[in-house]
Amino acid sequence: MTETTPWDALYVGARIATLAGDSGWGLVEDGALAVRDGVVAHVGPAAALPAPPERLARRVVRLGGGVLTPALVDCHTHLVFAGTRSGEFQARLEGASYEAIARAGGGIAATVRATRAASEQELLDASLPRARALAEEGVACIEVKSGYGLELDTERRMLRVARRIGEVLGIQVRTTFLGLHALPPESATRRSAYVDQVCDHWLPTLAAEGLVDAVDAFCEGIGFTPAETARCLDAATALGLPVKLHAEQLSDQGGAALVAARRGLSADHLEWLGAEGIAAMAAAGTVAVLLPGAFYALRETRLPPVQALREAGVPMAVATDLNPGTSPMPSLRLAMNMACTLFRLTPAEALRGACTNAARALGLDRERGRLLPGQRADLLHWPVSDPAELLYWIGPHPQPRRILAGPAPG
Ligand code: NIG
Ligand code: FE
Repeated sequence: MTETTPWDALYVGARIATLAGDSGWGLVEDGALAVRDGVVAHVGPAAALPAPPERLARRVVRLGGGVLTPALVDCHTHLVFAGTRSGEFQARLEGASYEAIARAGGGIAATVRATRAASEQELLDASLPRARALAEEGVACIEVKSGYGLELDTERRMLRVARRIGEVLGIQVRTTFLGLHALPPESATRRSAYVDQVCDHWLPTLAAEGLVDAVDAFCEGIGFTPAETARCLDAATALGLPVKLHAEQLSDQGGAALVAARRGLSADHLEWLGAEGIAAMAAAGTVAVLLPGAFYALRETRLPPVQALREAGVPMAVATDLNPGTSPMPSLRLAMNMACTLFRLTPAEALRGACTNAARALGLDRERGRLLPGQRADLLHWPVSDPAELLYWIGPHPQPRRILAGPAPG
């Protein structure tokens, strides 16, 4: 640090929740955060700066209180879709189960019909407000899955719309191909042909078009078997794509161990996760993505094994699972609060779950999720005095101001 290489900007006058280290807030009281070329260049106490701020940076921003955190990351959404499923919401209130609705041709299949019928523009118009709601509460990076097309053209359209959302909102979007989400009705009697087509044709085609950042599948009694899932994850690995999995949501299929054995980025849901799956995830460094919105909406009673995950050192992330069936919840802030109230995460665990570990679940932990030198300067300034307040409010209040240095992330 010399006077000939000043920082581009220096932010002072706030508490900084860096999320450095393995637990807690990583709090720096009366902190100073410097940015150069869109990247965090320095974080520490203002009192330890080597010279007065004005001599160190081209621009000094005095924040006048509040808390700085990394921008939020929603690492599991299905937010591109057409239509709603409010009728199923009513049916469930009258006693129908999610599985029974799915087996009767509703559920995912209902959204597939609506999504196939929507043009790219209609799909964008329907989906953009949901992504905008997330962005307004501080989410700067969103994972978006396909899986409501279940035919090549509509899967492609969904992924293109996801990319477009990132451009329109100036946020980072990571796309995940979810061809094995459900068996489409036209393939009801041709399971293995459908799986072959997804793995051998659609996946390489969409990957070659640059539309796939990762691959996921729904490993479940009403979804795909472990063998079918393994086939899909192996096809992804062969193409050099990272994998993740909807695992152990409604039953224990051994999905978490299956994805961990392939060095998967994450296993998601996990209410039925057992000791073997936990051990496999710990050994592989696979993130446990907790989705309290789906737990809440389905009125599940079996909790994910949070204490066992904690003891095993499995990193836990929190996401919305925003989708029309089991989690019509366009608020990561609400998911973070629910992770505390329903799943008993500590407030710091929930914030790490929506920053540090969410970034890791997307393979982005070197660039996002903590406020340390080398990370993107994409941060939030919150009008609160205590970071626990971010988890305490139920829903998206209070709203942060995003501080983004450098170009909008692509
Ligand atoms: O993550 N579990 C499978 N997929 C979604 C539900 C999708 C839907 O019902 O439309 C989930 O919960
Ligand atoms: Fe999901």
